[in-house]
Amino acid sequence: MMEDRDALLALLRWQVEMGADEAIGDAPVNRLAEPVSREPAEPRSPTPAASGGMPERARAPSSLPLEPVQESVSAARRIADACATLEDLRAALGEFDQCTLKATATNLVFADGNPASGLMFIGEAPGADEDRQGTPFVGQSGKLLDKMLAAIGRDRRSAYITNITFWRPPGNRAPTTLEAELCLPFLERHIQLVQPRLIVLLGKSAAATILETQEGITRIRGKWRSYGKNGLDVPVLPTYHPAYLLRQPSAKRDAWQDFLKVKTRLESLDTPQ
Ligand code: URA
Repeated sequence: MMEDRDALLALLRWQVEMGADEAIGDAPVNRLAEPVSREPAEPRSPTPAASGGMPERARAPSSLPLEPVQESVSAARRIADACATLEDLRAALGEFDQCTLKATATNLVFADGNPASGLMFIGEAPGADEDRQGTPFVGQSGKLLDKMLAAIGRDRRSAYITNITFWRPPGNRAPTTLEAELCLPFLERHIQLVQPRLIVLLGKSAAATILETQEGITRIRGKWRSYGKNGLDVPVLPTYHPAYLLRQPSAKRDAWQDFLKVKTRLESLDTPQ
């Protein structure tokens, strides 16, 4: 009996972890037994993490209809563009209900660090620790990121950190393209308000979203690109995500080279030409 109870509690915890944290009916419904729609699927772009992304995160199907999504993206753009400060942007995200990730997240995870530092890091999505604390990169990946920052003489007072999505995807899966698209107007405004001198993209999803590329992170890491939206011209360096480095310590060597490039480039930006 006790074993049954433990098993049921474990199942309940797993369901909450997956984002099913609300009962919506008294009887279970087998949705797999329901007839599948015969409507042809709308074409849509592949997910940013469709290949070579964050292996520990499961993939989620992009199943939202496109038109309402376009309306939501336009609404997001209007709201984000009306924000004059980072505080406005954070508050606007707090009110924005059209990204479904918000419904299953505990906290908005906006940013951490010093927006005036000139150095902006963009990761993929908050995980469980970040969701609990409302701060990006506070879990194991964050600890490694802190060490990498220390290696180039920086910390969270001399760097600014955010993600392409502002809420934790349930079960730690990668954000879908649609979720990333809904957050993108806020992210672009975020970058515009921060006006960084240099951007580091952590992992495939961030690189895919900001650089609009499907190239694998292994191919593009360590190569300078530039970010040119909203009148900006900011050097961008894609590199491995710290979570990947935790699983593949042999890749730390390359990441170290990338961080050295960041250090050197920042020094050259500081030196009057
Ligand atoms: N991974 C990310 O991409 N972002 C976080 O904030 C934490 C882990």
